[in-house]
Amino acid sequence: MGRQALQLPDDVLRLASAIWSLRPDVIVETGVYDGGLTLFFASLCRLLDHGRVIAVEIAPREGVREALAAEGAGRITLLECDSATAPVERLMEHGERVFVFPDSDHSSEHVRAELEHYAPLVDGNSMMVVADTNMADLAGTPEGEDRWRADNPHAAVESFLAAHPEFERVSRPSVVAEVSYFASGWLRRRGLGRAVASR
Ligand SMILES: C[S@@+](CC[C@H](N)C(=O)[O-])C[C@H]1O[C@@H](n2cnc3c(N)ncnc32)[C@H](O)[C@@H]1O
Repeated sequence: MGRQALQLPDDVLRLASAIWSLRPDVIVETGVYDGGLTLFFASLCRLLDHGRVIAVEIAPREGVREALAAEGAGRITLLECDSATAPVERLMEHGERVFVFPDSDHSSEHVRAELEHYAPLVDGNSMMVVADTNMADLAGTPEGEDRWRADNPHAAVESFLAAHPEFERVSRPSVVAEVSYFASGWLRRRGLGRAVASR
């Protein structure tokens, strides 16, 4: 669609599969970068003939506003602000099903703040999928940073789950090795709604 998406192809299909089965009313993507994933989410909504996207980005790259607006039909709303405090609930009706993909500032502190901010919007029929929970594994690579070993989205997920027993990680035994940027990032509210084969 002419814009870059910073995800592995397998992960894009996992997200598509989850969105197909959950059928959210609203998809919140935090961190837009070039807008490719945002447009992909919107195109899924078009295929499903259901749902819209709220994208939150603190510093939109050149051309992103225009590319997202071109989707038309009010399918994408871009909020230009810090994603840990974005007023997304003002753009939602009570009871809407919300799927959240936090992918902005990857520090533990910021991801934890995002999880606290968005968790109240996510009921048992949907999920939060935290991007880049594999960052610690990349700390030793040529472009990796040492601080990633401890300061990363996975650490935020662990501390969030410890403080929120009403949420659980969704995982399943894998018969084949999975290549994913966010294998440990699939979170669901416990005890409600239907089981989702998201991965
Ligand atoms: C990893 S990229 C997002 C990739 C995009 N989700 C995709 O799949 O192609 C991270 C983005 O988050 C934005 N960002 C960083 N800190 C932010 C913050 N506090 N609030 C909102 N966006 C932020 C950056 O400007 C950058 O565009």
